[in-house]
Amino acid sequence: MNADVDVESERGPVPALHDRAVACADHLHDADRVLLASHIDADGLTSAAIASRALERAGIAVETVFEKQLDRAAIERLAAADYDTVLFTDFGSGQLDIVTEFEADFTPVIADHHQPADADTEYHLNPLLEGIDGASELSGAGASYVLARALGGESNRDLAGLAVVGAVGDMQDGDGGLSGANEAIVREGVAAGVLSEETDLLLYGRQTRPLPKLLEYASEARIPGISNDEAGAVSFLADLDLDLKRDGEWRRWVDLTGEERRTLVNALLRHAISRGVPADRINALVGTTYVLPDEEPGTELRDVSEFSTVLNATARYERADVGLAVCLGDRGPALDRARHLLRTHRRNLSEGLQWVKTEGVTVEEHVQWFDAGSRIRETIVGIVAGMAVGSSGVRHDLPILAFADAGDGELKVSARGSHALVRRGLDLSAVMREASRAVGGDGGGHDVAAGATIPADAREAFVTHADRIVGEQL
Ligand code: C5P
Ligand code: C5P
Ligand code: ZN
Repeated sequence: MNADVDVESERGPVPALHDRAVACADHLHDADRVLLASHIDADGLTSAAIASRALERAGIAVETVFEKQLDRAAIERLAAADYDTVLFTDFGSGQLDIVTEFEADFTPVIADHHQPADADTEYHLNPLLEGIDGASELSGAGASYVLARALGGESNRDLAGLAVVGAVGDMQDGDGGLSGANEAIVREGVAAGVLSEETDLLLYGRQTRPLPKLLEYASEARIPGISNDEAGAVSFLADLDLDLKRDGEWRRWVDLTGEERRTLVNALLRHAISRGVPADRINALVGTTYVLPDEEPGTELRDVSEFSTVLNATARYERADVGLAVCLGDRGPALDRARHLLRTHRRNLSEGLQWVKTEGVTVEEHVQWFDAGSRIRETIVGIVAGMAVGSSGVRHDLPILAFADAGDGELKVSARGSHALVRRGLDLSAVMREASRAVGGDGGGHDVAAGATIPADAREAFVTHADRIVGEQL
């Protein structure tokens, strides 16, 4: 082995973050107990699972709590818990200006990937501080994994699978799979035998959906005569020379042999070409996928993308404890509970999306928006907004703002853009922060996806500010 490689591997999976990770790890090693606070989505849950496992393995006692959003009230609650060290995962950077006001109460250690606020602190692990993109190259779970490797070395490589679930849950993958720092984590997971990388059909639900539903529900593929078309999907399948059912039940993608899968993919590509689907969307039908080989085939946890939906179905419904237990290996009661929550989550997403399609959006000069009031839960309105962009009636060339009641006289805003808009200068984290602060709220996030909370009566003023700021950016 040559010397360069040796030095490289000693600097962990993401060498640019090594020094920051070691500083954080050293501080944690010196603490005898740590309060771990994380965010309530798939990336936040996997971050917490990775960090808490690594702390336990290092002999450091840890208590884990979750917050919907890290505002002053949440930080005050953490301070009141009376720990000398608080580890923040998947949030913390965006609210660093508030967090640092509490440094007399606790020492913060942060493993995050959000756009940092204008402040700094000693133990701060964030890809954006080293020129690595926090929206596409490293997630909160990825940052937590880098920290775990600094805490416990190569013995923590088995946590790489969870880091990939977090990155995919934050939509950091493209047709070519994960890239940048995430790719180094993928390599470690594959080497540790906890992850496999496969080129496969890129439709959501390969493990669990009956074949007609796999095709019908894949609305992002937008294949005329199949997507969003139940009868079309069934008749497309019936024309193939395939056994579609076993014991009277529809087979799923995982139930097909390699030969049968090739038959289906080839027919799907031919169908898409004949219906004039553009080349970039046809190419995006097949790509890199990630599988957790230790999970039972045909279950929601086998495919990282389905796994991340299970986690969102728990934490976004005030059951982060259930999602965390699943991440930590509970395949009994917690998984049963998670499956139950998943049914509710799916129904809510589908009803929410239907509502947006029926009501439509209001188009301003530079943004489009809808206000779901209390019809869509504030914790999932961002997911619905992202799904709506792929559907008819919603423009692709404008960022979308989605409002939902947050209770206590507050409105939640979720903003979603596209990579094409980001290339033209869009930075939704700045839009959300500036427009929300202008109306007495707060927000932040990533260039392509961000959020805020504002006073309930400030919607109109907020839209005006956001429209102007986006206009200045583009
Ligand atoms: O708080 P956190 O960073 O974990 O959340 C990132 C959010 O941004 C997720 O809800 C994810 O779905 C969204 N996102 C998106 N499109 C992207 C990247 C991220 O909607 N291209
Ligand atoms: O909640 P939503 O899915 O819209 O969040 C999108 C992104 O914006 C996430 O990364 C989230 O952590 C971030 N966000 C934030 N501050 C808020 C709301 C959301 O940084 N007040
Ligand atoms: Zn995240």
